[in-house]
Amino acid sequence: MSTITCRAAVMWENGADLVMEDIQVEPPRAGEVRVKILASGVCHTDWSEPRNYPAGFPVILGHEGGGIVESVGEGVTNVEVGDHVIPLYIPECRDCVYCLSQKSNLCGKIRVTQGKGLMPDGTSRFSIEKDGKKVPILHFMGTSTFSEYTVCAAISLAKIPKAAPLEKVCLLGCGITTGYGAVMNTMKVECGSTACVFGLGGVGLAVIMGLKEAGCSKIIGVDLNPAKVPMATEFGMTDFVNPKDLPEGVDTGAAICALIGDYAGAGVDYSFECIGNVKTMRAAFECVHKGWGQSCVIGVGPPGTEISTRPFQVVIGKAWRGTAFGGTRGRTQLPKYVAKYLDGSLKVDEFVTFTLPIDEANKAFHLMHEGKALRSVVVHKHEGDEEVAAHRAAHSGGAGGSGTAKDNAAAAE
Ligand SMILES: NC(=O)c1ccc[n+]([C@@H]2O[C@H](COP(=O)([O-])OP(=O)(O)OC[C@H]3O[C@@H](n4cnc5c(N)ncnc54)[C@H](O)[C@@H]3O)[C@@H](O)[C@H]2O)c1
Ligand SMILES: [Zn+2]
Ligand SMILES: [Zn+2]
Repeated sequence: MSTITCRAAVMWENGADLVMEDIQVEPPRAGEVRVKILASGVCHTDWSEPRNYPAGFPVILGHEGGGIVESVGEGVTNVEVGDHVIPLYIPECRDCVYCLSQKSNLCGKIRVTQGKGLMPDGTSRFSIEKDGKKVPILHFMGTSTFSEYTVCAAISLAKIPKAAPLEKVCLLGCGITTGYGAVMNTMKVECGSTACVFGLGGVGLAVIMGLKEAGCSKIIGVDLNPAKVPMATEFGMTDFVNPKDLPEGVDTGAAICALIGDYAGAGVDYSFECIGNVKTMRAAFECVHKGWGQSCVIGVGPPGTEISTRPFQVVIGKAWRGTAFGGTRGRTQLPKYVAKYLDGSLKVDEFVTFTLPIDEANKAFHLMHEGKALRSVVVHKHEGDEEVAAHRAAHSGGAGGSGTAKDNAAAAE
């Protein structure tokens, strides 16, 4: 195994645009795996995390990737060369106190070094030559999928079926799984429940997909942008509230409760905040049903902000919950989600609004901020790589092809 030189989008300083660079990626050490990344979704956290909680620079972002194992370090047994994988920003070691509890997916095995942008041994596998010197580049969320090759801890890789197009199922590395998992794993929503979803972006739509599958009788969506309505309706939203269109004196919470019933304490059984705003977190909490309603915080609030409500809201039986990666145990559950996609029972293609070359990663961020993209997928070139070319050819004309999940699955067989 030797060092690989490849293309990566690098953030050199806080808030700067990403720059395409030739970088070096060292071979994997013990317990590590080097992965050829084909594509990566672009998530809000790629934008906000390095700005709000910087571990340092330069750094290679990206945490919604899909790739093929290129080489494995000593002692790795859970994946082998050629396996298709989705890198996990929450690993699953299966022997830490969290993994063993069966109550939480927040595996703590490599949390400290991952938070510093380093591999578990405290060093980086990425570097770049600048003025004759080797400059280390930090990892991000243990994944760094904006590089053609990355190195991950073996416990941070979910092995998935090879029939799935990596340019699509990469989205299961964060946004879709977070929303869908929040419904299925964290809140365990029962058939016949009523629910409300604040924010109809990629995460909110994935929540709606889960609520529909769970058999909810009412799914109320809330967004300031009416352009989100057609897609949300297609996914299963039954009612829409736009806070900007409410009559004078009617707040969002009151409008939601009125859709459930005309009695004291009426509210939804479950609410989900998929925006990242502490005001909407409060509104989402307070609009749940007295006695049993539960609200799930998914959105990540700006640094330094706090959530608040009157204590009596809790006294009367409302519960506040939260979820990271939808409570999903990546290695155990992601292969099943990919299988559901392949049999047509989990939407993924529908979330891809734009497919762009990695060189246009900055444009993907602009599209996200303009509210135009549910998700953009950035694709790595891998010029002259036959394995990548064969994968792309098998999936309806390659990245950005218009094939459905079923077409793609059939094409790969
Ligand atoms: N907990 C986790 O593990 C996890 C994982 C992924 C993403 N997230 C977070 O989830 C949030 C949503 O992510 P996304 O990719 O869907 O974002 P997005 O920007 O695509 O969607 C947000 C939606 O909220 C709407 N909105 C904004 N302000 C609003 C307001 N005041 N009232 C009503 N609607 C409003 C926007 O119009 C947009 O449709 C982000 O905060 C992201 O960081 C959390
Ligand atoms: Zn994300
Ligand atoms: Zn663990």
